Amino acid sequence: MNIIMRKEMSEASIMNKEETERFLNTIDLSAGIPLTEPDRQYYFLRKGRMLVEQKSLAKGRSLTAHSECFGCQMNARDSEKLTGMLECLGYTMTDREEADFVIYNTCTVRENANTRVYGRLGYLHNRKNHNPDMMIALCGCMMEEPHVVETLEHSFSFVSLIFGTHNLYRFPELFVKAWEADSIVVDIEKDNSRIVEGLPNERKFPFKSGINVTYGCNNFCSYCIVPYVRGRERSREPDDIIREITAMASDGVSEVMLLGQNVNSYGKTLDTPVTFAKLLERAAGIDGIRRIRFMTSHPKDLSAELIDVMKSSDKICDHLHLPLQSGSSAVLKAMNRHYTKEQYLGLVDMIRSKIPDISLTTDIIVGFPGETEEDFRETLDVVRRVRFDSAYTFLYSRREGTPAASMPEQIPEETAKERFSRLLAEVQEIGQNVTSRHTGTIQEILVESVNRQDPTLVTGRMRNNTVVHFPGSSDLIGQYVPVLLRESKGFYYIGRKYN
Ligand code: SAH
Ligand code: SF4
Ligand code: F3S
Repeated sequence: MNIIMRKEMSEASIMNKEETERFLNTIDLSAGIPLTEPDRQYYFLRKGRMLVEQKSLAKGRSLTAHSECFGCQMNARDSEKLTGMLECLGYTMTDREEADFVIYNTCTVRENANTRVYGRLGYLHNRKNHNPDMMIALCGCMMEEPHVVETLEHSFSFVSLIFGTHNLYRFPELFVKAWEADSIVVDIEKDNSRIVEGLPNERKFPFKSGINVTYGCNNFCSYCIVPYVRGRERSREPDDIIREITAMASDGVSEVMLLGQNVNSYGKTLDTPVTFAKLLERAAGIDGIRRIRFMTSHPKDLSAELIDVMKSSDKICDHLHLPLQSGSSAVLKAMNRHYTKEQYLGLVDMIRSKIPDISLTTDIIVGFPGETEEDFRETLDVVRRVRFDSAYTFLYSRREGTPAASMPEQIPEETAKERFSRLLAEVQEIGQNVTSRHTGTIQEILVESVNRQDPTLVTGRMRNNTVVHFPGSSDLIGQYVPVLLRESKGFYYIGRKYN
């Protein structure tokens, strides 16, 4: 397929909050709507802010917005962009759904993600009856499915705005359109390969952040809907990524997570191709960055070069999320994963021979069409041999439009559930055992928050991503603290500050 890549950069490519404010104030709304991006969206940010301000004056209070994400890290990063734009529009963000503007960033990877959104919409409808000015917006992967949008238009017409994954950067323009419209505004683009840099965004944590390196996916695993709702894979220019990380570092970020559906194929389609390993090396050279993570790695594209770069840099965390999906070569073939059980085990050997203490985590699907008891035992066999630190286990969910949805031999629910429980018991027992291997050692913990259940504790993560709770207060948030791991509690530790 011939992909036309268009990328537009503004001079004011990476601006901090104050610079964004100053820039917005220079925009002259009478000068006409710019045709180039991101200038066009800055124009609508300025216009939208005026509308919000007027309404706020009329109500005698500031307007609030609530943003919620139902999906993966990539969706979460998109939600941060939406939050950045909502703040620019003049909204005060709130955790409560009783807000003037509510936006749900949806996921459709499994059916239960969709069910949750419909359930929550019922609740929002009720809220809107109390506050008729309330605006409800829906975006994200679920909106890229025509049958979903049809249902929403038909039965949920109290929604103000629907847009998809390809036009998120146009949110300011769509916001103004929805504000001025009497009925639901729907704007879905199919397979727009445009990457627009330089729009405002916000971070959930001041000290760590996700960074997109690729968008979309070309792998078409036969069960998966992501390539249909996220479009073809495209990589950001390495210079743009490095510039963004550098700007974050000077803004206090010390941990970054590079994000893509398959980071190992990063850079292959760029005008000047570059490998993901090379990108990691450049990222590791940025002052102020202390930890680099990345996900997800598709086993078929994982290179020895990547493992060598991980080994050579202290900044790149010794953690690899390497989705297995199934341990049966026959099922893997039907899944279109392009590796066999033996190749996966070979990869794990190669990785462990270079980085013995690496933490390995994985995703596994149970109940894929045609999966036999024997196939399932192959999965258990891989789990026992690899001994993952943890595994996300999923019941196969039939996604309309994917090849697996029309495969014969869909597995009865009871069989799938029974296998699921057996797998879960196995991964949990092994995971607890493996995770506890650091008991009694001193580890550097990046503190993320005060513990929600017990406010005398703070919660942070080890370099390998394991969670640790220890006595401390909020002034430690964002700091790297040496902690003695006193007790393993399965998938997390209780420790104490070591000094
Ligand atoms: N790009 C990543 C995964 C993205 S989706 C990768 O390939 O590894 C996250 C996980 O959801 C997948 O790894 C898979 O285990 C699971 N998943 C995707 N589609 C699914 C489906 N139809 N049913 C059940 N689980 C699914
Ligand atoms: Fe889905 Fe496969 Fe792409 Fe992952 S690599 S997003 S599982 S199609
Ligand atoms: Fe879900 Fe979309 Fe991520 S379908 S898993 S939110 S890419």
